[in-house]
Amino acid sequence: MVDARQIEAEIYERLSRVIDPELGRSVTDLGMIAAIQAVPSDQSDAYDVTVRVELTVEGCPLSETITNQINGAVASYPHAALTPHIEVSSMSRDKLADLVAGLKAERKQNPFTKPGVKTRIFAIASGKGGVGKSSVTANLAATFAALGYDTAAIDADIYGFSLPRLFGVRTQPTNLNGMLMPVTAWGVKLISIGMFAGADRAILWRGPRLQRSLEQFLSDVWWGEPDVLLLDLAPGTGDMAISVAQALPNAELVVVTTPQPSASDIAVRSGLVALQVPMKVRGVVENMSFYEHKGERLEIFGAGGGRRVSDQLTEALGYEVPLMAQLPLLPEVRETGEDGRPAVLAEDGSLADTPLARSFRELALDLMDAGSHKA
Ligand SMILES: Nc1ncnc2c1ncn2[C@@H]1O[C@H](COP(=O)(O)OP(=O)(O)O)[C@@H](O)[C@H]1O
Ligand SMILES: [Mg+2]
Repeated sequence: MVDARQIEAEIYERLSRVIDPELGRSVTDLGMIAAIQAVPSDQSDAYDVTVRVELTVEGCPLSETITNQINGAVASYPHAALTPHIEVSSMSRDKLADLVAGLKAERKQNPFTKPGVKTRIFAIASGKGGVGKSSVTANLAATFAALGYDTAAIDADIYGFSLPRLFGVRTQPTNLNGMLMPVTAWGVKLISIGMFAGADRAILWRGPRLQRSLEQFLSDVWWGEPDVLLLDLAPGTGDMAISVAQALPNAELVVVTTPQPSASDIAVRSGLVALQVPMKVRGVVENMSFYEHKGERLEIFGAGGGRRVSDQLTEALGYEVPLMAQLPLLPEVRETGEDGRPAVLAEDGSLADTPLARSFRELALDLMDAGSHKA
């Protein structure tokens, strides 16, 4: 299952939490991790990991603290052999000069952490991929916009981005002196790594800088102050949700699952991240719940997954995590999605007069009606 690249990526992610005590920034942010290499060990089934570290100044007392922390972060990683190889050198003069200039330059701020900001933020998560997380995000965003909410969406699934396709976006964001304008489609302000090409994409992709990409999307994109911000998270149960909680303390998690046990078990785990970080799980959406055939509801993927996720999260988190919607399996969701129009919308961009659109409308209004999100 795991391969060397994934291990390198996960180790990089761990190292992004090692903070340089002097500069107060992570060693990855500071460019101190020059290389990570994982190769299968011939002694055990773990991987031998080599990390090349470039310190700002070599040989100072703090450098030992940092290398010890890096060592600890790598050694604690389950797939790594217990004694990682840490090769320490110091940065080139030019690199150091760049680093210092970058630190001095005023940092642009993530606008969603300003006191008093009114934006409601919903992070759409799932354990498994393929359960319809992106389709739910796209249709929900389109519904909010059609209902008159100023709506923004971030494609935070960096490696599996899909919002540009689902919204039919083929243009690039305009770059105004380093400030990017989101692309508006079907009334939704969107940003996705899929909108960038060539070198711009490479910058966002470089290394597994997932958290940095999210921060960049938050601080370098001109969002104004939307009523609603949706995030299409990558599938999985961990790191991205933690990054979201750090960058967006007001974000509420919405867990998408299908009715089948394999999807719902891992969906529960994606919600349990709320035990580690202060983030509210707002509710559960069950997708592909049934297929309507000649007036009969066929349960293609079984039944009960959404209920189960809701019950288990309610019990584990100690507050009500409701099952907020059960959405039908509907060929139009895929077909119009592939044509670049969220299925809830009519061709003129208004909310369609369909059961699907009504379900999404109810879900959207429910999400907004929740009163205070600081429960
Ligand atoms: N309710 C639905 N009915 C029919 N097809 C759906 C539905 N939800 C999602 N799909 C289709 O299932 C596939 C996976 O959905 P997607 O939204 O990309 O999932 P995820 O983002 O969770 O990986 C896509 O082809 C999508 O069009
Ligand atoms: Mg997706």
